[in-house]
Amino acid sequence: MQRVNTVAELRDTVKAWRSAGQSVALVPTMGNLHAGHLALVNEAQNNADRVVVSIFVNPTQFGVGEDFEAYPRTEAEDRQKLTACGADLLFQPAVSEVYRSGAKTLVSVSGLSEWYCGAFRPGHFDGVATVVCKLFNIVQPNVALFGLKDFQQLTVIRTMVRDLNIPVEIVGVATVREASGLAMSSRNGYLSAEEKTTAAKLYQTLCVARDAILAGQSSYEEIERKAMLFLQASGFQPDYFSVCRVSDLKKADKDDSDLVLLAAARLSKTRLIDNICFSRNPQSRSEALLSKGGGGDLKAKS
Ligand code: PAJ
Repeated sequence: MQRVNTVAELRDTVKAWRSAGQSVALVPTMGNLHAGHLALVNEAQNNADRVVVSIFVNPTQFGVGEDFEAYPRTEAEDRQKLTACGADLLFQPAVSEVYRSGAKTLVSVSGLSEWYCGAFRPGHFDGVATVVCKLFNIVQPNVALFGLKDFQQLTVIRTMVRDLNIPVEIVGVATVREASGLAMSSRNGYLSAEEKTTAAKLYQTLCVARDAILAGQSSYEEIERKAMLFLQASGFQPDYFSVCRVSDLKKADKDDSDLVLLAAARLSKTRLIDNICFSRNPQSRSEALLSKGGGGDLKAKS
């Protein structure tokens, strides 16, 4: 696997591939790679001739007092994993390579970026949208892959791509989980063994809420309230638990059939997010949820 640190080197390599008629996939990451990231790389290989993985702990998406400094950086292990799974190019720029001094431009997807996680992490999604837009401009991939694990992030990126006419296809990849159901995350490394057991209850709560909706419970407020109480009683400090519609992440009403339950909760100092995506209408499973443009949890492999 080739490894480059500068935009110029990245562009030279990608240009050579393009001249040879090859298509390019991009998998943006912040490193500390786990099986969830590697599932994106595998899916990228199914979607393009060449796969670029970026590792960049993006300072602009971390708020004051968040874990930018402490964020796990495991470069040697990450390189080994990417080599083993056959990625073609690792792009690992320094902060000064990505953010030149005096930069004045920020990409902001209004509304959506202020809801849910955005309400608890002001400016976070502007940092994400800006860096992902820059990566799209640097690499100019045919396709880019993102995890459904970060469902609001994926929706922000799809919206940005649509609004700015960025010529890239966005593919969502299903969440990879531990046997306990806990969604894999670089931040799980902050959890003690005991906390990891508790952490799995976040996904269990999502599953219980989904099953209640599929069984006909139609008061979404009641479902959200019960889920928040259950999470609190289990030792979490929940930020939100929301029944949303897949299409634009607005709060769902009774007529919406494609739903996503979004949740975020803190366990001691670790903030966990997870979601579950499903349809109340079996007919729509193969359409809205399974399509590349849709947001379904059913589409790709876990
Ligand atoms: P990071 O948290 O490293 O995640 C990189 C990609 O891996 C994201 O698309 C994320 O949704 C996906 N991912 C993480 N855990 C996953 C899991 N358990 N199953 C499937 N996919 C998973 O998300 C970011 O970095 C950053 O915000 C980034 C998009 C790179 C911009 O800086």
